[in-house]
Amino acid sequence: MSGSDLSDWPGADRRHVPAGSATYVVRSALARWLRDEAARAAERWPEGVRVLDVGCGVKPYYPFFAEHASRYVGVDVVENPMADVHGPVEALPVPDGSFELVLCTQVLEHCDDPAAAVSELRRVTAPGGRVLASTHGVQVYHPSPDDLWRWTHAGLQRLFVRHADWAGVTVHAPSGTAACLGMLVSNYTEQVARRARVEPLGRLLVTGLNRGAQAIDGRARVLREPGPGTIHANYHVVAEVPL
Ligand SMILES: C[S@@+](CC[C@H](N)C(=O)[O-])C[C@H]1O[C@@H](n2cnc3c(N)ncnc32)[C@H](O)[C@@H]1O
Repeated sequence: MSGSDLSDWPGADRRHVPAGSATYVVRSALARWLRDEAARAAERWPEGVRVLDVGCGVKPYYPFFAEHASRYVGVDVVENPMADVHGPVEALPVPDGSFELVLCTQVLEHCDDPAAAVSELRRVTAPGGRVLASTHGVQVYHPSPDDLWRWTHAGLQRLFVRHADWAGVTVHAPSGTAACLGMLVSNYTEQVARRARVEPLGRLLVTGLNRGAQAIDGRARVLREPGPGTIHANYHVVAEVPL
């Protein structure tokens, strides 16, 4: 199926994230990253790639992979009509090494046992395959169904390296310190605007905050790259399985 036939697929607001949204910082970078990873997977596995979407929600990123996926399986811990199979990330109901790409976006912060989750993500990934995970550095409490963990870039690297054998693990902060602060202020701006029934004004203010923060991070490497004194809204992890 072609990605362009899927414009009505659920989760369009996660694939095309307006700058007036308080989740812009997290979701726009995530969508960009997964689009790039889908293109990369299409080149690397031209015969088709098997994709497992762990904690799939509405499978918002399926349209990116649809054209080149020979299988796209969603799994979720809650009763979810979009999920193909039911189970937790800590005990995935799929065979060893059965997917070249394993997505786990914005799920690790919600699961009981992140260490077991990492081992399990590794178990189900095929030789030469990749786990693409994302999770929060900083975010407001948002249970789905729980909300248990936050990380630094170093903590996330350690979590992956300690709990499975990989050919490589990279942790990237796609947005900087100003963006993170902007996101938090945007969150409350959005809420106040909703209560005061002035949502268009709220969107305008949030757009300004997001754009301004992006410009500040763009000028200051010390705010952009993880290091002493920085905070980051989200991290992207690529964990590669040896051939
Ligand atoms: C914030 S949503 C993210 C959904 C989707 N991955 C995305 O990026 O839009 C978190 C999802 O993880 C699922 N979830 C939470 N804990 C889980 C667990 N232990 N195992 C598998 N899925 C889990 C939730 O049911 C929900 O669908």
